[in-house]
Amino acid sequence: MSIFMDLCKRRQSCRGFSERPVEHDKLVQCVEAGRLTHSGCNAQPWSFVVVETPEIVSRVAQCSQQLKQNAWLETAKAFIIVLEEHAVLNPVISCFLDSQYYAKGDMGAAAAYICLEATAQGLGSCIIGLYDRAKICEALNIPAEKQFGYVIALGYPANDTIRTKSRKAIEDIVRFV
Ligand SMILES: Cc1cc2nc3c(=O)[nH]c(=O)nc-3n(C[C@H](O)[C@H](O)[C@H](O)COP(=O)(O)O)c2cc1C
Repeated sequence: MSIFMDLCKRRQSCRGFSERPVEHDKLVQCVEAGRLTHSGCNAQPWSFVVVETPEIVSRVAQCSQQLKQNAWLETAKAFIIVLEEHAVLNPVISCFLDSQYYAKGDMGAAAAYICLEATAQGLGSCIIGLYDRAKICEALNIPAEKQFGYVIALGYPANDTIRTKSRKAIEDIVRFV
């Protein structure tokens, strides 16, 4: 198995973190993986907020429990938030496509790189899809109109068990021609 495939198999959404704090340098490595991610026209339509101050981590956790989901976020030790930035596309391409056409996919790739690097660093991660954007903006002093890509919760996993992945069968989703 390749090193990358091993990482893909070990990366899983972590929904309970231990008390152990996350080292600043490990968060820097995670965000560096995000920075190195590929993007359409190399536009890099992202910026990152690394949340590591315990009081602010706690506020972001509270802002991310909409519909009473994700109560386990109270155990998160850090967050990385992927913000959407203006994409400057190649002039030829920008005649045909809106500037943000690739941005959502690019941010998804950056979020994936961050989560995979977190796994490589021994950290657990979980992308959070339900959150109160306005409250997070307020907590982090981000302009209210700013669009988010992803909120990623991080910490050391409380439980190291690697679950079996629940995925569609390869023959149902792949066609070789
Ligand atoms: C865009 C996105 C939003 C997600 N939102 C949540 C969430 O709010 N709460 C949660 O527990 N998991 C969330 N997840 C994790 C998914 O449930 C998880 O990736 C999926 O079930 C596959 O499991 P695995 O990540 O453990 O392989 C989210 C994942 C993505 C990519």
